[in-house]
Amino acid sequence: MNIYKAKNYEDMSRKAANILSAQIIMKPNCVLGLATGSTPIGIYKQLIDRYEKGDLDFSQVTTVNLDEYKGLEKENEQSYHYFMNKNLFSHININPNHTHIPNGMEEDSKKECSRYEQLIQNLGGVDLQLLGLGHNGHIGFNEPDQIFYKETHCVDLQESTIKANQRFFDCIDSVPKQAYTMGIKTIVQARKIVVVVSGKDKAEIVKKAFFGPVTPLVPASILQMHNDVTLVGDEDALSSISKMI
Ligand code: F6R
Repeated sequence: MNIYKAKNYEDMSRKAANILSAQIIMKPNCVLGLATGSTPIGIYKQLIDRYEKGDLDFSQVTTVNLDEYKGLEKENEQSYHYFMNKNLFSHININPNHTHIPNGMEEDSKKECSRYEQLIQNLGGVDLQLLGLGHNGHIGFNEPDQIFYKETHCVDLQESTIKANQRFFDCIDSVPKQAYTMGIKTIVQARKIVVVVSGKDKAEIVKKAFFGPVTPLVPASILQMHNDVTLVGDEDALSSISKMI
């Protein structure tokens, strides 16, 4: 595993954007696996900046996102479709038909999960997968569990997650109760994986995920078995492993 230590969030975003940029330059028609959440926003800003300067061209790039809430329209401000358009896609020259996110409006979970899984296979797999890390070690919506769920599947959100999301919605009934997510096997089949972490609150889980036992109770720990993982973190997020690296 490669570990890049960054000074702060800005520096982490720049270092991770360098890796994504190199991927796009080396293989202009690459397949990028993308994540939402707060951590990648700075990376997306960097990519937009490089596109605007003429240093990056997304015209041949294809993207597949990790996850999406079930039951949310693309136009809903809480949907990951909305997030990706707002934070990246609407600012670059990517072909919208080349951007893929699970369809939250498909009610038939089995149908949507096998469509998404097949789509990734048909694209020839993911060249580079960007991942954030949840405080409990989750990647995508793969929460701690007794087993690793392998392929794209529908997840029942934990009660605590539903309650935490309530603030973004008018009432508890409009909060999504389920989500579609790539599975662990789908994720680890990516040829290259870049994990980004920032902030002191991620320090403990970084240590558990990358230096602890490999277990579905810490889903990200499976990444220890992948042979091309790069962890990019700021000093705070890497503080509990600073003696090991
Ligand atoms: C989102 C996703 C999640 C986040 C994780 C960390 O697509 O896959 O697993 O990466 O929850 O979120 P932040 O970056 O907000 O700490």
